[in-house]
Amino acid sequence: MSATVDPAPGKTPSQARRRKPGLVGWVVNRVGLDETMEDQYNRVVPRHATNYIYCVGGVALVLFLILAITGILLAVYYQPTPDTAYQSVLNISTHVQFGWWIRSIHRWAAGGMVLLVVVHMLRVFFTGAYKAPRELNWLTGVALLGITMGFGFTGYLLPWDQKAYWATKVGTDIAGSVPFIGHFLLVSLRGGEQISAATLGRFFALHVLVLPGVIIVLLLGHFWMIRRQGISGRL
Ligand code: HEM
Repeated sequence: MSATVDPAPGKTPSQARRRKPGLVGWVVNRVGLDETMEDQYNRVVPRHATNYIYCVGGVALVLFLILAITGILLAVYYQPTPDTAYQSVLNISTHVQFGWWIRSIHRWAAGGMVLLVVVHMLRVFFTGAYKAPRELNWLTGVALLGITMGFGFTGYLLPWDQKAYWATKVGTDIAGSVPFIGHFLLVSLRGGEQISAATLGRFFALHVLVLPGVIIVLLLGHFWMIRRQGISGRL
């Protein structure tokens, strides 16, 4: 079947060409996807920005998407209580089909994302891309770095093994040493004075609900600003 459609009254030929038949075409026309995509296709990437170092932020985004998908799969089997957490992680690694694989991808992607976000930040710094008019995007980036670290910190406790316990103890002790608000931070993070079931519950909620929500909002802001301002010029 031909994809061309008779021009509707009052439509220019190029508007008519964009109209597609069928259900997909109906939806595409209603949401104006063609116009949006045309805008994307017509953007020119400056030559200097095709250098690999300018792709690091994009690869960090791909790793984030991989983390989101593998994280959802892990959450299907993970059980966030002190009695079951360790056993459920063991079960994922030994009994669940491809569980060891999904878990390994999640762990390696997590490490990779921290590394790439830092490299991306260094690229932005050394190319001076933090200067006007991109200061706000730099600050959004600083928040993104904090959130990325937060994912690592909260995720580390979830296996509920000795390493996880002691790393969280040291991490929350450091938070507790912040002047004036230290004790408040420590108790808020641990859900009490000691590391307990409440800590595990809080870290799980932060890891799978709060931080993903915040990072999605920040990423949308980050990309919106990049779209508006374009990639910074050659030095
Ligand atoms: C989750 C973490 C992050 C992701 C996924 C991300 C993604 C991106 C992408 C795809 C770009 C387009 C150009 C490029 O890739 O170099 C970009 C640009 C930018 N990013 Fe990030 N970013 C992240 C974190 C950061 C951090 C930590 C900073 C700095 C503190 C930062 C500051 C900026 C700035 C200022 C730009 C504009 C650069 C320019 O115009 O040359 N971003 N980011």
